[in-house]
Amino acid sequence: MTAMAASHETPLARSVARFDAPAAALEAIARDLTRQMARGLVGEPSSLKMLQTFTRQPSGRERGRVVVVDWGGTKARAGLVELGAGGAARIVAEEALTFSEGAKRGAPEPVFDLIARAVSRVVHAQGVAAAPLAFVYSYPARLERIDRAVALASTKGWALTGLEGQDVAGLLGAALRRAALERIAVAAVANDTVAALMLQSYQARGRDPGARPADVGLILGTGTNLAADLGPAGIRNLESGNFDGVAAVETPYDVALDRELDEPKPGAQRFEKMVSGHYLGEILRRALGDVGPRAAAGLAPFSLDGAHLSRVAADRSVGLDHVDALLRGLGVASTLEERRGVRALGAAITRRAARLVGAALTGAVRFLDPELAARRTIAVDGSLWGGYPGFEALVRETFVELLGGERAGRIETAYVKDSTSAGAAVIAAVTAAQRSDGCSSA
Ligand code: BGC
Repeated sequence: MTAMAASHETPLARSVARFDAPAAALEAIARDLTRQMARGLVGEPSSLKMLQTFTRQPSGRERGRVVVVDWGGTKARAGLVELGAGGAARIVAEEALTFSEGAKRGAPEPVFDLIARAVSRVVHAQGVAAAPLAFVYSYPARLERIDRAVALASTKGWALTGLEGQDVAGLLGAALRRAALERIAVAAVANDTVAALMLQSYQARGRDPGARPADVGLILGTGTNLAADLGPAGIRNLESGNFDGVAAVETPYDVALDRELDEPKPGAQRFEKMVSGHYLGEILRRALGDVGPRAAAGLAPFSLDGAHLSRVAADRSVGLDHVDALLRGLGVASTLEERRGVRALGAAITRRAARLVGAALTGAVRFLDPELAARRTIAVDGSLWGGYPGFEALVRETFVELLGGERAGRIETAYVKDSTSAGAAVIAAVTAAQRSDGCSSA
């Protein structure tokens, strides 16, 4: 592939080369992100919302049983989590829900009712009559308190009618009451990036009370986003999927995709549209049109996703048999040539995504520590990070390019797999501790 990218002689090589993201462009992106964080924080115009989270780092000594709801990707989950000694967070029970495309565009109440019924099944099966509930709502929301979160425009293909401007904790609370769960009370609402950050801190401090907490939380799955602990300004949800400083590495495919989607509307979630699992396959489908028009024509919009790209990258067979099977599963017959195109383009698109993530993380870490004087920990979760072969290595390569080997070596990436529910329980437990201290911190 590198050889092909170097000689731009074939249409495939030309398409692959479009996804290059040179270090100089990434450096400018990292600097822009740092600047936009500063602006967002003081309320100046910025594509980064820097939303308050109303939680604080855990001590590692939090305990208890918490009912959790995780809603933010292709699935939602209701569960029960138990926090124990040594940073243990055990998922006692969990039930997953999927939503039809119609449900994603309908009224909010039926969705909240589905979730409340799943909560009901979990708590009844576990004999839980009363418990605090932590709600991870992984779409943009402006928290006004730990248990009040006003929905902003949705992401990842959701467009519920009339949700914007409503308090999602209130909507869940009402659905719980409709399901006769008056004693299951929404105690905390959080973003998944914050849950990842908090779980990493809780696990590290549970094992060693003197351990440094995580500095940054990153989700890289269906969507993408960052949270960061800004010290006196508290833990903030950047909503970095909306970062708009990406024009230097945009291709015509990205521009068209951004323009043609209704939700998120053109100009919104531009970073996410180039980086996350919900979009990477769609960029590939569009780019494929230039090299394998026949295969591309058979693929429906958004039929390819991040999981498909991971499977394509993992195919080591000479005939690209797994790619063949995958395309057949989507109703498309392909030639070996076309499959090679799918593989080379998928790799180029994902490599660019990883490099953009590396640049964004560099910008965020520099905001906290411009010289990277101290060690910094990034807690990461999400299907793309966990599932795409070699993704982390591509991100680390970017750290070295932008920061040099020594500073890059001070950044630790900790993969906290399936962190959302467990992290949510930590947040609810921290909230309970904050309440008993009489402390309320942003
Ligand atoms: C949402 C974020 C979320 C991220 C990862 C984005 O689309 O706006 O709130 O953290 O996806 O799930």
